[in-house]
Amino acid sequence: MRVVSGIKPTGNLHLGNYLGAVKQWVAMQDDIQAKGGETMYFIADLHGLTEWIAPADMAANTIEMTATLIAAGIDPERSILFNQTRVPQHSELSWLLNNVARVGWLNRMTQFKDKAGKNREGASVGLYDYPVLMAADVLLYNATHVPVGEDQKQHLELARDIATKFNNDYGRDLFTLPEPLISAAAPRIMSLRDGASKMSKSNPSEMSLVKLIDTDDQIAEKFRKAKTDPDVLPETMEGLEGRAEARNLITIYAALSDRDPADVLAQFAGQGFGAFKPELADLAVATLGPIRERLTRLLDDRGEVGRILERGAEKARDMAVPLLLDVQRTMGLQI
Ligand code: TYM
Repeated sequence: MRVVSGIKPTGNLHLGNYLGAVKQWVAMQDDIQAKGGETMYFIADLHGLTEWIAPADMAANTIEMTATLIAAGIDPERSILFNQTRVPQHSELSWLLNNVARVGWLNRMTQFKDKAGKNREGASVGLYDYPVLMAADVLLYNATHVPVGEDQKQHLELARDIATKFNNDYGRDLFTLPEPLISAAAPRIMSLRDGASKMSKSNPSEMSLVKLIDTDDQIAEKFRKAKTDPDVLPETMEGLEGRAEARNLITIYAALSDRDPADVLAQFAGQGFGAFKPELADLAVATLGPIRERLTRLLDDRGEVGRILERGAEKARDMAVPLLLDVQRTMGLQI
């Protein structure tokens, strides 16, 4: 078993990333390693380039995202933690796979359609090709499992299609088909201002997302001002039908406390949001506060965080080099 997953260094880690992906990554360090497997996590700085980031911010964001992952519980002694750029085999494999992936497959990617919007002609080729690099990221290590939020599921299905076509075209089972692992507790955390759109780093409203670097007061304020409805909390999940904002807050409470949402509802049934929101804010502060404190300490020594990435990349390269060679030879390339 080999778990591989990545995160872009755009802005700060938010509650959606944490509950949808990173919390699983941390839990998997124990579960997978107990079964003799490996966990590899990386900062997808090359994917980060698909949105404009000033060069100085890119460097700082990469260090900050790495420190945040460590603060959230990723242990660089037990997981291989690195950034994509330092392992050039990701880009090389991506080019090779560009010749396997079909234009029709990429045209179906909903994330590209959302991000490009109406101005498709003006979108970068990198944004269009994003999912092929993502396929390379996981196929390069023969990942068996890829823990991600629901929004990345389609990209991983594409990675499986690319791997299957490669294996068929070249007549050998070179690539392992990666299995997406979508968090059951928090597949899609929604914006605190609008239950119909996901919590996202690119949302311009600061009040829509809770960041792991937010102060206790900011966290409490964001939950206090979160959009809700005037009704009381119902006894069962069915009662949350058509109440997207209420459902989202219950999901967040349940995911933060590792409880079943039905169990959380049983506790708060009959109460209004005036009573529930402060409880949710306290829980979020208690969970995120210690992460923020560790993060602040880690950022006192940014050089050390950089060295951690360097050491992780060395290990990742040792794994990537033989697989890339195998792919190149299989395709008949002279090396
Ligand atoms: P990124 O940086 O956008 O998001 C990182 C992880 O957080 C999850 N996520 C969410 N989960 C639940 N609710 C939300 N509101 C929410 N917002 C984000 C994402 O699904 C993701 O798991 N393309 C990837 C980065 C990547 C990658 C890879 C992942 C590059 N190569 C290879 C896995 C394997 C991304 O969008 O990350």
